[in-house]
Amino acid sequence: ARKIIIDTDPGQDDAAAILLALASPDEIDVLGITAVAGNVPLEMTKRNARIVCELAGRTDMRVFAGCDKPLQRPLVTAEHVHGKTGLDGPDLPEPTMPLQEKHAVDFLVETLRAHPEKTVTLCTLGPLTNVAMAFEKAPDIIERVQEIVMMGGGYFEGGNITPSAEFNIYVDPEAAKLVFGSGIPIVMMPLDVTHQLLCLKDRVDRIDGLGNPAAKAMAEMLRFYERFDVEKYGSDGGPLHDPAVTAYLLKPELFSGRECNVEIEVNSELTLGETVIDWWRVTDRKPNALVIGKADAQGFFDLLTERLGRF
Ligand code: BDR
Ligand code: CA
Repeated sequence: ARKIIIDTDPGQDDAAAILLALASPDEIDVLGITAVAGNVPLEMTKRNARIVCELAGRTDMRVFAGCDKPLQRPLVTAEHVHGKTGLDGPDLPEPTMPLQEKHAVDFLVETLRAHPEKTVTLCTLGPLTNVAMAFEKAPDIIERVQEIVMMGGGYFEGGNITPSAEFNIYVDPEAAKLVFGSGIPIVMMPLDVTHQLLCLKDRVDRIDGLGNPAAKAMAEMLRFYERFDVEKYGSDGGPLHDPAVTAYLLKPELFSGRECNVEIEVNSELTLGETVIDWWRVTDRKPNALVIGKADAQGFFDLLTERLGRF
C-alpha cells in the first residue's frame, strides 16, 4: 500500500477525502493525519480530524495538531461554507481518542526522515502551512518526499474566495509558493476539476442509503455543505473538492491533465493567491505540476460510494 500523510483542515469535504483513504487499506497506508488551521481554526480542525477517524472506526490513527495560522498572514476561515464547527450537518459526538502531543511539523519531519527516500506521499487538503513550515525547518526532507497530491488553486474556473484565488492557496500564499518551488513532483486538483464533481441529489442519496453510520454522517455533511454552493453556483449540487486527492491515489485513470508551470501570486492585493498556470505553455518556465483538468465524475462518485459502503 502507498504510504501517505494527510494534511487537512476538516471541513466536510476533507472528511470525505479522509474516509475514502481509511476505507482503502489495501491501496493506502495512512501514516498519520496532520491538522492545520483553514476552514475553521486549529482548535476545531484538530478535533474534527479525530471525529472523522472515529467515524471510520480508526481510533488507533495518529492525529497531530500543526500550525494555527499562516506563515506570514492572519488566518482567513470559511465558516460561511462549512458552518461554525467545520463539520456542520450531522450530530456527532466529541472525539474520545487522543490527540498526539507532538507538533504536526515535527511529525512530518521525523516521518520523512524515518522512511526510505521517496516512499511517502503528502496529501494536502488545506492551506500548505504545515508542509511549508516542515520544509523550512528541515530542508533535507524535501528530496525525500515521493509526491505531493493537493487540492488547491484554480485557473479557467477562477477563484472561490476572491475572483482569482482558491481558498487553500489564498489563505497561505507564501506557503504555496514555497511548495510549488520545492522541485517535488506535484499533482494539483484545482477548482477546474472539483467543479465537475457535483454532489447531485441522487449521488448523496445513494451514500445515505448505504446505511452505515459513517456513510450516513457523510451524506448529512454533504447536504449541509452543498447548500451554500447550490445557491452560489446554481447547479443541482455543489462541488466536492478534497476527495479528488484520495480518489486520484486509488484510481488515477479517473483524471487527466497536463504538466504545467504553476506560479503563485504573493504580491498583488487584487489577485493574491492566484495560481498562474501556464496551461498553453506560453512561457519557457519549467513544468512543476501535473495540473488535473478533467475528471470522470460518475466514476468518482461510484468509487466514493463503494468505499463508504465498506464501513
Ligand atoms: C478547499 O477549501 C476548503 O473550503 C475545502 O475544504 C477545500 O479544501 C476548496 O477551495
Ligand atoms: Ca480542505
